[in-house]
Amino acid sequence: MPNFLDIHRTAPADLRTILESASEMKATRGTRPKGTPDDDLPLKGHVVALIFEKPSTRTRVSFDVGVRQMGGTSIVLSGAEMQLGHGETIADTARVLSRYVDLIMIRTFGEDILAEMAEHATVPVINGLTDTSHPCQIMADVMTFEEHRGPIRGKRVAWMGDGNNVAQSFLHAAASFGFHFTFSGPAQLDPDPALIGAARSAGCEVRIERDPEAAVRDADLVVTDTWVSMGDPESSRQRRHNLLRPFQVNERLMEAAPDHALVMHCLPAHRGEEITDAVLDGPRSVVFDEAENRLHAQKAIMRWCLGV
Ligand code: CP
Ligand code: NVA
Repeated sequence: MPNFLDIHRTAPADLRTILESASEMKATRGTRPKGTPDDDLPLKGHVVALIFEKPSTRTRVSFDVGVRQMGGTSIVLSGAEMQLGHGETIADTARVLSRYVDLIMIRTFGEDILAEMAEHATVPVINGLTDTSHPCQIMADVMTFEEHRGPIRGKRVAWMGDGNNVAQSFLHAAASFGFHFTFSGPAQLDPDPALIGAARSAGCEVRIERDPEAAVRDADLVVTDTWVSMGDPESSRQRRHNLLRPFQVNERLMEAAPDHALVMHCLPAHRGEEITDAVLDGPRSVVFDEAENRLHAQKAIMRWCLGV
């Protein structure tokens, strides 16, 4: 029973199958109204639980709409309103939900919670973001890059700012999809060194470059994300802002990048903090294509998990 827990825990050939299926479904739907079902209704008769222990706009709506388009039914659950938020174990929640639904997507805190859910569920589990990874986002990002620029293999991705969950999933993806990765941020917020080592062992060039302009000089893609993620303590906000300010993605930084370099941000953006309006709304930005592709990529992930 395939779970979709992390990029590096899914075989590269399966990641490719998922992306091909996502592109095919996107092309087939074309511009038809968003509420109309797909012709083949692959999730007909299936129920999907979408559990959120953290806020969400994109993940919540794109999974829900994706299930509906494929003819299934979704139940959106907030962790705080479930018994999960009042002492019931993850393991028992997984066992019970598996008796009612065919698929579970969970957005949560520690990776251990996700692992416990997957261990005790008897239906597939999808990672909708943890403190340390966000694999669905990266599938949409690779899809978006390839729509605009062709195969990502051998290309250069420059990550600016915090070595957070999204950055770490990019590192996993570098190994799986064969692109190079430059991290540019303060040493205190480097990604997990084990992930850097794993990507290097897989043959990727991984650079740590403290000079933001040097980091983007050969980039095909410049990516950033919030300076304070949902799992980070509020008390760290000021320290993080002070550390991360030099790594803002702004027009001056983008002048140092090649003309063809794209800009991505998983959103929500904090305009004027990690990225300026001029870049986010500028011609290199593909952030809303990224957001749209969450829908198509996740539909393909759900089909792959369910084998339908
Ligand atoms: N990018 C992303 O996962 O957005 P949400 O937090 O709105 O789901
Ligand atoms: N790094 C961000 C991503 C939000 C989609 C967070 O975890 O809050």
